[in-house]
Amino acid sequence: MSEESIQQQRHSARAFKQQDVPEDVVKAVVADALNAPSWENSQPGRIYVATGATAAKLRAHHERVVTSGQKSWAEVVPPKQMTGYMGQNVDDWLASVQDAMGPKAMQDFGSAGARLFDAPVLVYITVPKDATMYAAYDAGALGYGILLAATAHGLSSVPAYQLIRYPEEIRTQFDIPDDEEIMMGMALGYPDDSQINQLRTTRQRVDDVLQLRK
Ligand SMILES: Cc1cc2nc3c(=O)[nH]c(=O)nc-3n(C[C@H](O)[C@H](O)[C@H](O)COP(=O)(O)O)c2cc1C
Repeated sequence: MSEESIQQQRHSARAFKQQDVPEDVVKAVVADALNAPSWENSQPGRIYVATGATAAKLRAHHERVVTSGQKSWAEVVPPKQMTGYMGQNVDDWLASVQDAMGPKAMQDFGSAGARLFDAPVLVYITVPKDATMYAAYDAGALGYGILLAATAHGLSSVPAYQLIRYPEEIRTQFDIPDDEEIMMGMALGYPDDSQINQLRTTRQRVDDVLQLRK
């Protein structure tokens, strides 16, 4: 058994095998994730999962719109240009990706998103449109819950803005009420052995982020 915690085991994969994930595994992941805490247990997140033919339609549509250069947008406004320590972390991450990947892997890294990473399972989280920032906190906890539960159930994953850049393609496949906004997407599945799946990221040191007083 691995000595690593489930948090240490999880890392993003961006190339998945064409292997379906059994429905009971998908449902077990969602059931585990629903244990996430939320403001007054309000549980604002709704979860929409595409598998099989629906996921295939989404992947094909996504590739078409990305390659045609169609302008993308998201229902939840994405972050502005990162500055300060967040900007530095992003720059460090981009540099580390460049260092770790050869030219072929770099090309794969860039193009995998257009095909939604070939993932057999696409997960979308919505929150009510009129929710406050705390719903984002709650949706983040739910999303991380999905990623960790996926790891525990033997799956790999990547949380990706890429999945939600064309909200209409998602709304076409599901009945998502107009008063919900699509906040985040995650791709799940079994990873293939591509180099892009070997990418490991670093984190700030505990002492860089923590003030601990005794
Ligand atoms: C809100 C959010 C959006 C992300 N969007 C993308 C994306 O569009 N494409 C992608 O390849 N990775 C995306 N990622 C994955 C991050 O790049 C990744 O989580 C980060 O580099 C840390 O690496 P790790 O997940 O392997 O620990 C996103 C992650 C988060 C939390």
